[in-house]
Amino acid sequence: MKYSLQNKFLVLCAVVSVCSMVRADDGYNLWMSYRKLDNAKALKEYKQAFSSILIQGDSETLRIIREEVKKGLDGLLGADLPLSGTLTGKALVIGTPKQSRLIRELNLSGELATLGCEGYLIKSINIKSIPSVVITANEDIGLLYGSFHLLRLMQNGQSLINLNIRSKPRIQYRLLNHWDNLNGSVERGYAGKSLWKWDELPGTISPRYKDYARANASIGINGTVLNNVNANPNILKTECLKKVAELADIFRPYGIRVFLSINFSSPISARFRVSGNRRGGIGDLKTSDPLNPEVREWWKKKVKEVYQHIPDFGGFLVKANSEGMPGPQDWDRTHADGANMLAEALEPYNGIVMWRAFVYDADVDPDRAKRAYKEFVPLDGQFRSNVFVQAKNGPIDFQPREPVQPFFGSMPKTPLMLELQITQEYLGHSTHLVYLGPMWKEYFQFDTYAKGRGSALSSVIDGTLHNYQMTGIAGVTNIGDDRNWCGHFFAQANWFAFGRLAWDHTLTAEQIADEWLRMTITNNDSVVEKIKSMMMGSWEACINYMTPLGLHHIMQAGFHYGPQPDYARSSRRDWTSVYYHRADDIGLGFDRSSSGSDSTSQYFSPLRERFDNIKTCPEKYLLWFHHIRWDYKMKSGRTLWDEICRKYYEGTSYVDRMYDTWQSLETSIDPEIFAHVRSKLQKQKVDSALWRDTCIDYFRKFSKKPVPDS
Ligand code: GCU
Repeated sequence: MKYSLQNKFLVLCAVVSVCSMVRADDGYNLWMSYRKLDNAKALKEYKQAFSSILIQGDSETLRIIREEVKKGLDGLLGADLPLSGTLTGKALVIGTPKQSRLIRELNLSGELATLGCEGYLIKSINIKSIPSVVITANEDIGLLYGSFHLLRLMQNGQSLINLNIRSKPRIQYRLLNHWDNLNGSVERGYAGKSLWKWDELPGTISPRYKDYARANASIGINGTVLNNVNANPNILKTECLKKVAELADIFRPYGIRVFLSINFSSPISARFRVSGNRRGGIGDLKTSDPLNPEVREWWKKKVKEVYQHIPDFGGFLVKANSEGMPGPQDWDRTHADGANMLAEALEPYNGIVMWRAFVYDADVDPDRAKRAYKEFVPLDGQFRSNVFVQAKNGPIDFQPREPVQPFFGSMPKTPLMLELQITQEYLGHSTHLVYLGPMWKEYFQFDTYAKGRGSALSSVIDGTLHNYQMTGIAGVTNIGDDRNWCGHFFAQANWFAFGRLAWDHTLTAEQIADEWLRMTITNNDSVVEKIKSMMMGSWEACINYMTPLGLHHIMQAGFHYGPQPDYARSSRRDWTSVYYHRADDIGLGFDRSSSGSDSTSQYFSPLRERFDNIKTCPEKYLLWFHHIRWDYKMKSGRTLWDEICRKYYEGTSYVDRMYDTWQSLETSIDPEIFAHVRSKLQKQKVDSALWRDTCIDYFRKFSKKPVPDS
């Protein structure tokens, strides 16, 4: 009897302890779940650091800060910290000199002078001999960013002793680009439907709008383009603007401004459709010629109306003369004519134009990689000062790996906005675990040599290289209405990493992964290390099992998910796979050297020469720039054929290892997250093997060589 009671007790204990560890996490809270810290040392230190929260001033943003800081600290410390009105003991003190007397008396104006409206200070200071932690900034939004910074430090178990942090963003416009359609679908979205419930707005407000704004503010995003670049002209109808205004009102106190993608044919009456279903708009004109006075007037009036609804509206994003979208070239005008017309209308309200350079008109050059450069570089200096030219990181289209778009560095008089893709259109959608931090770092660090050595892409984008008067970065978002926001739990890390790098591109991908893991999954060092190392190699693995050694665009037509290297028939040659890989009996790869399409000449010296020469071209870009013989000896001593097979196998074995590592962590991870990620990894194993086998089988028809032992 005694024995069985004891047994029951043990079973009960086991159940209780499992239950306390097993807290089903559906991923909704992202990196802001503020679970109680299990790091006893940090917990003790934090409890000693402050025992109350003192926030002086009043505004919608300060109300949000109060709520966030209270929630965060209470959660992390497992306490109930009072929000007090006066300084009685050690406190976390938050305020601007404008609104807080306590802060004013600290005389920090010298330090704040260079921090702009978004920067902040976090300092350990004795106030009236009471040791305190102070967050201060010039504006309330800086306080919000500073508060999230402090919470992040604590979520990461960092010490709060002798704090002296100053931070401000390196890039001014840090935007998400939603490719969301008015019908609720999301172009290249893999996480459910659009977050924006256009049918319900403005009457019904989803609670997710606030949570979206809060998550973005926590990583420093300060703007969002709500709709697809393949823009439906209806977005500018009055009824839509009212809905947009509602979202703008919600986002405003989080420092997030709203922008819209527009359709260049908007002024044209639907009766005068030019051709194709993407043309014809909401106006009453017969033309959208940017030099036509009526068209210009139409835009001025429309812009005025937009600002009546949304006084701090950010501006327009425009995809023009690209993939069937209308644009100024339909009226024999240039991209600059089109952009400047809109810029003139927006200028009185401080609005901007982000004119996309994603153009690849086949008449411009037989090589798609050269076309944007050829169209845009001659226009440098012709854009009004409130126009950005927004370009994707590479010259083709968000491939697993590309060299950088060569016109970065070649347009010193035009602020260039970098467009990255967070949604994994070509990297396994929301099914494959691919951490994009290392990819973005590779782009940022890519030396353009525009002004000699040390002209990294990051210095073009943050404006330091050419002294741009405005700077910007955009990420095509991976967010949808799935409960966990991004489809794949690990895709949240890419949203997080984009924001963190947009704020400060000098952070390392590893640092960011570390932060995200600790904030989201666990603070257990050995678990963090294991998952982090999975994440850090996941991008290179994806390249290897999809498009190693510079291959690109050999995926399923349209869907862009699985492999389809034999895809050869399409309405456009440059939408086929064979156009890009050029496999034949002799070898593989697109000859873009001076004896081929000569795209290498668009780069600055010495990159141009380096890429042009097979011997000096980095092997990661080899098949991008060269057609290489199957028996060419690679640096490893292996032939190209053997090397490419090896790369495919390296990619798939990495995925197998990720799966095994994940399996080994079952008891250390929330069961819901564990099961979700495991099933994704299972699929990734199958998919990566399919990529490998399909590509090797296909290329073998040309190489006519046996597959080496792996
Ligand atoms: C890619 C993508 C399209 C998108 C386009 C763009 O081609 O597949 O869905 O519209 O890029 O960036 O405009």
